[in-house]
Amino acid sequence: MASCDFGPGPDRFLAEVLSGLRKPQKELPSKYFYDEHGSHLFARITELEEYYIPRVEASIMQAHIGDIAGLIGPQALVIEFGSGNCEKVRFLLDHLYDPVAYVPIDIAREQLLPVAEQFASEYPGLEVCPVCADYLSRFDIPNPERAARRVCIYFPGSTIGNFDPLPARRFLEHAAAVCGQAGALLIGVDLKKDPAVLHSAYNDEAGITAAFDLNILERINRELECDFHPHRFQHYAFYNPRESRVELHLISDRNQEVHVGGETIYFAEGESIWTESSYKYNLEEFARLATTAGFKVEQVWTDERRWFSVQYLTPR
Ligand code: AVI
Repeated sequence: MASCDFGPGPDRFLAEVLSGLRKPQKELPSKYFYDEHGSHLFARITELEEYYIPRVEASIMQAHIGDIAGLIGPQALVIEFGSGNCEKVRFLLDHLYDPVAYVPIDIAREQLLPVAEQFASEYPGLEVCPVCADYLSRFDIPNPERAARRVCIYFPGSTIGNFDPLPARRFLEHAAAVCGQAGALLIGVDLKKDPAVLHSAYNDEAGITAAFDLNILERINRELECDFHPHRFQHYAFYNPRESRVELHLISDRNQEVHVGGETIYFAEGESIWTESSYKYNLEEFARLATTAGFKVEQVWTDERRWFSVQYLTPR
């Protein structure tokens, strides 16, 4: 199985961590949550009762897979941005007619390669070409051996919600360029709902989301030889209605200093590191965003409560 590696190295990781921690509102890029342990913790989040997204998205996919497969059509090249454990795409691939290849793209190298190999052995007729990359960076998509009739990018789970508005637009423009004029984007988009539901989803009883959030400090310690004391920080997540986003923060429980790449970073008691945003849309807002990025919303499927949507977009 051929694979390509464009993943960020330690220098880039350090540079991004330092630039985030030097800001007045300290921040860390949420893409660095996903080392091996972080990916494992995220998989546990997706099994939590409170974290409705995977369950509701799967129910929408199950209810409408016939229409979805019909729109994508035969002999598609399926590219998944942020493929994780490649679990969700199985259901889609199982219902497509004669897909030519699957290109999982993920920054989490440790997870990507073994999962892609396992995947290739389970789908012997499908060419599997894993790419280790930050899918926002520019990289070449491998050419499959068989010609594809359509490139379909699959971007489930509402990961689009983890981008601020401008990067979200940039991401969609990039996706439109990658899938080309005849292509499509099948995307999961989380919708606005009762903030109490969001609060439970990002503050689960078992504390898995807290462990996931704090793991970024463990990763920084291990990979960049820093000296964070993760137990001196507390996970804090809340819905910010003005910005329509859930924010994840790590709050320092005391005045303290941490050494990162030879630099001393000071934390006051109560000061936070902003680790993630998870934007929630309504259908009109998302359609506007998609349109400004060069897409047309062809079809939208939602659940009965309108908690989540799966959308089929084509370049305009
Ligand atoms: C990956 N992403 C869509 C998740 C979300 O809901 O924003 C990440 C996550 N963070 C905490 N729980 C889940």
